[in-house]
Amino acid sequence: MSDEADLSRRHFLTVATSVVGGVGVVLTAVPFVASFRPSARAQAMGGPVEVDIGKLEDGAMVRVVWRGRPVWILRRTKDMVGRIEAEPPSLLKDPDSAESEQPDYTRNPLRAIKPDILVVVGVCTHLGCAPIERFDVAPPDLGPDWKGGFYCPCHGSRFDMAGRVMVGSPAPTNLPIPPYRFVGDNMIIIGDDTGAKA
Ligand code: FES
Repeated sequence: MSDEADLSRRHFLTVATSVVGGVGVVLTAVPFVASFRPSARAQAMGGPVEVDIGKLEDGAMVRVVWRGRPVWILRRTKDMVGRIEAEPPSLLKDPDSAESEQPDYTRNPLRAIKPDILVVVGVCTHLGCAPIERFDVAPPDLGPDWKGGFYCPCHGSRFDMAGRVMVGSPAPTNLPIPPYRFVGDNMIIIGDDTGAKA
């Protein structure tokens, strides 16, 4: 089994959030759990959510909830970044994210402030299902052209590891990127991009 396939199984973290003074703070990270239970209070308040990614390993993904929406934070490996950069634009519906929801400061092929960190809303832009993270390359069920990404089981939409939708998918646009900013190297604030570079 490839390293990437192994990472895709091992490295999903689920976190609990709470709200302190209007900012949701990630308190715990629990590995190997594939679903999350958003804090009702955090959902109701809808304030920014602060996430510490200091312990997020290469290839690992953490899930949080912001304004009732699942937000995923993936620390992409160099190999993952290379696969995104090698993706021919002709295979993508919206390679420049011209029609997709995202802040200007992430309007680049990797759709990120930092190349290795993807922050994306985990809701399919077709009819709102939850895509599944499939970071393995060319698995039998997804075919030899699959280079890793997110797969929506409802109607088969495919997204790469920048959340860009592939041609042939029913989803019309890329997975949304929420507003966010870094505080230092390891703290991300989702829902607050004050001072973020355009
Ligand atoms: S809801 Fe995702 S493909 Fe239809």
